[in-house]
Amino acid sequence: MIVANWKCNGSKIMIQDWISKFKETYVTSNNSYIGIAPSYIHIEHLSNNLKANSLDITYGVQNIDLSSGARTSAISLEMVQDMSCNFSIIGHSEMRIIFGETNENISEKLDLIAKSLDVILCIGESAEENINNQTREILKQQLEVINGRDLSQSFTIAYEPVWAIGTGKTPTPNQINDIHKFIKDVVQSSTVNNIVPKVLYGGSVNENNAQSFFNEDYVDGALIGGASLNGNSFAKIVNIFNGVN
Ligand code: 13P
Repeated sequence: MIVANWKCNGSKIMIQDWISKFKETYVTSNNSYIGIAPSYIHIEHLSNNLKANSLDITYGVQNIDLSSGARTSAISLEMVQDMSCNFSIIGHSEMRIIFGETNENISEKLDLIAKSLDVILCIGESAEENINNQTREILKQQLEVINGRDLSQSFTIAYEPVWAIGTGKTPTPNQINDIHKFIKDVVQSSTVNNIVPKVLYGGSVNENNAQSFFNEDYVDGALIGGASLNGNSFAKIVNIFNGVN
């Protein structure tokens, strides 16, 4: 599973260019779920262009709001479903840090969407927490939002250490593997149906380091920011994941 998080980037021209570059490089394979989370405003343009180019890429949103009505700037579940989005990212560290999203907000969002959309829940420790060896403790706290839930198999976690996002720094593949195993164990023991979720790695993934992460047993894919903005680079990473590079 390889998902592009375009964050607050993109334009209609970028999308056209992205698709032609993706097609140049992508080697068709049925191996993986490929997703893009564009800005809300570009969802329709992206979906029309994916369809026109017969690309089997799904799309979703980077966040969602709790309800509809008098909530200026918000996007509701009904709107997201109306645009045929398949998934929502929630709990991204940029939402937590820049927009003050709390575990409580994330838990309410899970109540709302977990049965209706595929969910990619982002968790990750800060640089300071990492240096102080608090990574597991912090991840466990962030995972409290899934306690006692009955989650579907399409529930996915993205492990994104905050200090690795957009910095060019990453944990070692082995460290990532250990953390992913830990996350799977915590989710399995906290959910009523004991699901073992897919765990994606996110944070400075690019075409040069992707293979080293994908070699690891507990890495089920990647959530990619910067390198996903270029259709060639993103397609290369998908090809590496599919073993067709
Ligand atoms: P980068 O790939 O730019 O480090 O971003 C990762 C990320 O935040 C994906 O959600």
